[in-house]
Amino acid sequence: MAILVLGGAGYIGSHTVYQLIDSGRDVVVVDNLATGHREAVHPKARFYQGDLHDRAFLDSIFQKEKIDGVIHFAAYSLVGESMTNPLKYYDNNLCGTKVLLESMVANGVDRIVFSSTAATYGEPKHVPILETDVTVPTNCYGETKLSMEKMFKWTAQAHGLRYVSLRYFNASGAHASGAIGEAHCPESHLIPLILQVPNGQREKIMIFGDDYPTTDGTCVRDYIHVTDLAQAHILALEYLNHGGQSDIFNLGNGVGFSVKEVIETARKVTGHPIPAEIAARRVGDPAQLIASSEKANSILGWKPEYNDLETIIATAWRWHHTHPNGFQV
Ligand code: UFG
Repeated sequence: MAILVLGGAGYIGSHTVYQLIDSGRDVVVVDNLATGHREAVHPKARFYQGDLHDRAFLDSIFQKEKIDGVIHFAAYSLVGESMTNPLKYYDNNLCGTKVLLESMVANGVDRIVFSSTAATYGEPKHVPILETDVTVPTNCYGETKLSMEKMFKWTAQAHGLRYVSLRYFNASGAHASGAIGEAHCPESHLIPLILQVPNGQREKIMIFGDDYPTTDGTCVRDYIHVTDLAQAHILALEYLNHGGQSDIFNLGNGVGFSVKEVIETARKVTGHPIPAEIAARRVGDPAQLIASSEKANSILGWKPEYNDLETIIATAWRWHHTHPNGFQV
């Protein structure tokens, strides 16, 4: 039996496929390559290019391959873009997922693990954030992910499906082999943007706001290594395979670092002075996002291996330094 990974050519998806294959699983990857990279797909995975909205295509995969579990990464994830083009996010993240669920129900596939986000919480009332905390997204991306969770809940109830929703905090780092890593176009995430400076692609890094109610005034985030996120998907699928009930889990290290601390750590890792300049706040940025991952630890047995920022940034630097243009040579 095989595991179907939708969005397996993207950042977190490709790392999960590597981990699945390294642990001996048979993997089928579907990706429309709108934001993913064909080169990121593990050579041992069976790859099909196609879109979530295409019901006949999805049905053909379920009929051709023997799929017993699905991991779903295929979504748009740029917060800023979701605010200027919300319908693009509703169309892909919700309409696409609806077609996937219809196809799964029709083809008798009843287990799915999917990507959710810390953005479902919005501005937290306290940190660390628990899964039971209120969810009031401050951007359309987070709203579509929260709606996806609800779509899964009601569909599961009606059709006997079981799901695990994984709410990631700040995904970062790259595969230890150096073969795959983060390659967004355009790039908007802090760590890859910082590393463009020592790579000679950017003169300085802009710090979006230094007047937040945090220790040094810059935003605090919980950076979690992409390989640890990948491992959580495998554990979640095993949990469902052993009869686990549908549930939601946060995935983070439980430790927050400010933007200034991340820059300082990158200076240490790269040996480059990395000039930084204070700029205006970015709209919609919460001051602090730190996960409580106690639940994932106690129920899934998940324990992040990369729990220090220096190692996380060192893996990212190895990738970006050797692949300054991502997967484009
Ligand atoms: N930042 C800067 N300068 C930059 C880029 C980012 O100061 O050039 C700051 C941001 O303002 C933020 C922090 O660095 O305070 C981290 O920003 P990222 O864009 O790397 O990550 P976010 O925390 O905004 O977003 C991440 C994921 C989203 C997800 C969100 C959940 O990338 O997909 O966490 O809150 F929705």
